[in-house]
Amino acid sequence: MNRKLFKSLREFKKETILTPIFVILEVFMEVLIPFQMAQIIDVGIAQGDVNYIVEQGIILVVMAMLSLLFGALAGKFAAKAGAGYARNLRHDIFYKIQTFSFHNIDKFSSSSLVTRMTTDITNVQMAFMMTIRMLFRAPVMIVLSMVMTVLINWQIAILLLCTIPILGGVLIFIARKAHPHFMQVFDEYDVLNSAVQENVNASRVVKAYVREEHEDQKFEKISMKVFKLFTKAEQIVAWNQPVMQFVMYAVVLALITISGLNIVGGSMETGELTSLMVYALQILMSLMMVSFVYVMIMISSASTDRIQEVLDEVPEMGNKENAIESVPSGDIDFNHVNFSYAGKGGNLSLKDIDLHIKAGQTIGVIGGTGSSKSSLVQLIPRLYDVTEGSVKVGGIDVRDYDIKALRDQVSMVLQKNVLFTGTIAENIRWGDESASDAEVKHVCELAQADSFIQEFPNGYNTMIVEGGNNVSGGQKQRLCIARALLKKPKILILDDSTSAVDTKTDALIRKAFREEIPNTTKIIIAQRISSVEDADLIVVMEDGRIDGIGTSEELLKTNKIYREVYESQKKGSDE
Ligand SMILES: Nc1ncnc2c1ncn2[C@@H]1O[C@H](COP(=O)(O)OP(=O)(O)O)[C@@H](O)[C@H]1O
Ligand SMILES: [Mg+2]
Repeated sequence: MNRKLFKSLREFKKETILTPIFVILEVFMEVLIPFQMAQIIDVGIAQGDVNYIVEQGIILVVMAMLSLLFGALAGKFAAKAGAGYARNLRHDIFYKIQTFSFHNIDKFSSSSLVTRMTTDITNVQMAFMMTIRMLFRAPVMIVLSMVMTVLINWQIAILLLCTIPILGGVLIFIARKAHPHFMQVFDEYDVLNSAVQENVNASRVVKAYVREEHEDQKFEKISMKVFKLFTKAEQIVAWNQPVMQFVMYAVVLALITISGLNIVGGSMETGELTSLMVYALQILMSLMMVSFVYVMIMISSASTDRIQEVLDEVPEMGNKENAIESVPSGDIDFNHVNFSYAGKGGNLSLKDIDLHIKAGQTIGVIGGTGSSKSSLVQLIPRLYDVTEGSVKVGGIDVRDYDIKALRDQVSMVLQKNVLFTGTIAENIRWGDESASDAEVKHVCELAQADSFIQEFPNGYNTMIVEGGNNVSGGQKQRLCIARALLKKPKILILDDSTSAVDTKTDALIRKAFREEIPNTTKIIIAQRISSVEDADLIVVMEDGRIDGIGTSEELLKTNKIYREVYESQKKGSDE
């Protein structure tokens, strides 16, 4: 168990403390009941005293009911404490993830974050519940049962005292043997989960490429591995039962022999024999419980570490003190920027970028896949920080702004964009929750989305399903552009955001930009020459460097890459 995680108990501390208290009360009753039974047998039945039997019998019933009540309360508090603890942990992780920068998220991968929030937390919850119930139960039970046994017969007490370390030792040995196998199982679970998640998320792609069989085989392989590892682990744990039974029968045999001799000799009563049997069993069962909890704690320790890892992660991007709250203009300056996803010393994805953009300009960015177009623009809203050099917006280093203020003014349509479950209007309002219907309609008109939205039977109230899979690629892109426009940003960045839109609509969108938002700086990354041809400046990216800057006319004369792309695309459209 990891102490640091207990901070998340918060309002469930009360239940966490109440559980062992009621467990201990329950144990007291469970230890007194056999003693009371022995009294009834040895005194009441032996002397044929009906009044005594009824009187003591009623006390016995009350004790049994109290034991039941305490047990039920302990169970209830344990369940509440466990579930509450899990809820708080989940809450803490979720809030932590919200503070993560792109860099932090890169580090964990989203499927691993999901596993941590589900499987790992469930493990911790189960272990926690078992621990608060069993941690006190087993030792208190063993000690009290031993005390009672000593009171009844010291020979048997010695017998049990010898058995406890032997059985305890064997059970712990088994648990330790099984532990590494369980750890492997949970590592494999991670792989299994990410395979499932990846496949389900991309199920449409899998089907389109008829890769079901391949995916089935991949899944089968991992799931077979989990099966084998689990079998191995469980095979070892399965030894618990026969060992336990063997020891139990051996103890019972010895107990009956010793007691039999004592009863014949007249130094022990039959009722005492029954209660001794119960105490012996209770002690053995407690040992079994201890080994069980031990395994559970070991299993959960890996989960605990994985949760702690997320909670300990330091959000990479914080606001400076006295961060600047307003962005004066849409000027953008890259001053000799080097950037690596791995931080200083890593492979450079951007090399010596020096680029100066005036507010209101339209900039086209073109270049092959992997030429770092996305990496370049992601530095402007500070999705990542530069490794060397600086990026300035409105003449101020982006790191000096309040992040929210900066991102409100730098609206970016990501290359891999998603819509969320909800209506179209709700999705657009992500850009600005308080926008009026007229404003929502206006930005949709600019993004050439209004006409197709009107054609849906429910118009702006059409439900978007998870990921936006019920609208076409081009429609999704236009909705994402509308959403970005609603912020009324000073800088608008489209990262390959019209790739699925036809050329004519694409041209209409750019025309609307020119006429309706002339003062907004617009950066357009595109594969199509026609999308950037009329830009004020075109930046040609190649292998993380700027290969050329200029208007289309200038680049046709000076830049080989631009000329080649231009010619191949123009030829393509002429034919
Ligand atoms: N999150 C990331 N972590 C590490 N490397 C990345 C990440 N995103 C992109 N890269 C790398 O940076 C380079 C440029 O990628 P990118 O900017 O996406 O290119 P483009 O948008 O031009 O296709 C590629 O080599 C890519 O592998
Ligand atoms: Mg890209």
